[in-house]
Amino acid sequence: MIEKFKNVVVVGCGTMGNGIAHVFALKGYSVTIVDLNHEILKNALGTISSNLDRQVKKGSISEEQKNATLSRIVPSIDLTEAVKNANIIVEAITENLEIKAKIFELLDKNAPPNCILASNTSSISITKLASFTKRSSKVIGMHFMNPVPVMKLIEVIRGYDTTDEVCNAILDLSKDLEKEPVEVNDYPGFVANRILMPMINEAIYTLYEGVATKEAIDTVMKLGMNHPMGPLTLADFIGLDVCLAILKVLHEGFGNPKYAPCPLLVNMVTAGHLGKKTGKGFYDYAQI
Ligand code: CAA
Repeated sequence: MIEKFKNVVVVGCGTMGNGIAHVFALKGYSVTIVDLNHEILKNALGTISSNLDRQVKKGSISEEQKNATLSRIVPSIDLTEAVKNANIIVEAITENLEIKAKIFELLDKNAPPNCILASNTSSISITKLASFTKRSSKVIGMHFMNPVPVMKLIEVIRGYDTTDEVCNAILDLSKDLEKEPVEVNDYPGFVANRILMPMINEAIYTLYEGVATKEAIDTVMKLGMNHPMGPLTLADFIGLDVCLAILKVLHEGFGNPKYAPCPLLVNMVTAGHLGKKTGKGFYDYAQI
């Protein structure tokens, strides 16, 4: 554990937020998770507990480590109070610029002046988020991958004003979490989603144009390219609303029609079929 980052606050504890809290707490950091109500927080703690159980069953951590990890996580619905002693805050709320802007303003006003404000955003500009604060040199992207406890990568995104000192501190922090950080600059989609989302969009177009069935498309990529999941399964796993939001950022950010979201993706999101989290996407998860 790096002492100067001892007090961590994770804002938003959905799929990504609870995974981020999990990895920090496992490494000895004191973590406060903040969300809108107690039920969301209770669900997040339940998810963290069952994901820690997987690691206990596998023998990669002990039962004691699991219990110690859980004891280091404190739930809170009071954001201003929670951030008062924070050394680093990782924002992992919904991918909506207006909501993130309000949160960054609030964090800036209430967190100690030296606290680093990190965002787990998958595509919103870090420079833009920093512009809602008076500490743009201390705002940075820390983009974890889902499932966070398993995936090794952290994409570390430098905003326009992010200093070397802050960037290096976050690279060190990421290594302390036993992750592999990769430093990238702040352009639409960064690196991960600039490459991943056009592939997923193309897979959706391939389905939309009737070139092959969803199973065939996924099998080609799984067995032919050794991807752990086919692109349509992966889209369901990420969330189709998230995929659409990222494609819109790429499309608007570059003004290039090659990023235009497939109409089938737009229709599915409009219909509320968002993938695994709603029980239906390209595949049906109702029975799972
Ligand atoms: N917490 C802890 N451990 C977990 C876990 C979780 N949430 N989910 C899975 N695991 C562990 C399992 O215990 C298992 O461990 P061992 O192999 O050591 O026993 C391992 O992960 C594999 O899990 P499973 O056997 O259950 O399933 P699997 O072999 O099918 O792997 C997967 C699941 C790791 C998710 C794999 O399918 C995979 O790598 N998929 C691709 C994931 C991916 O591409 N993620 C990036 C998405 S993009 C993103 O996140 C960024 C964005 O901005 C959109």
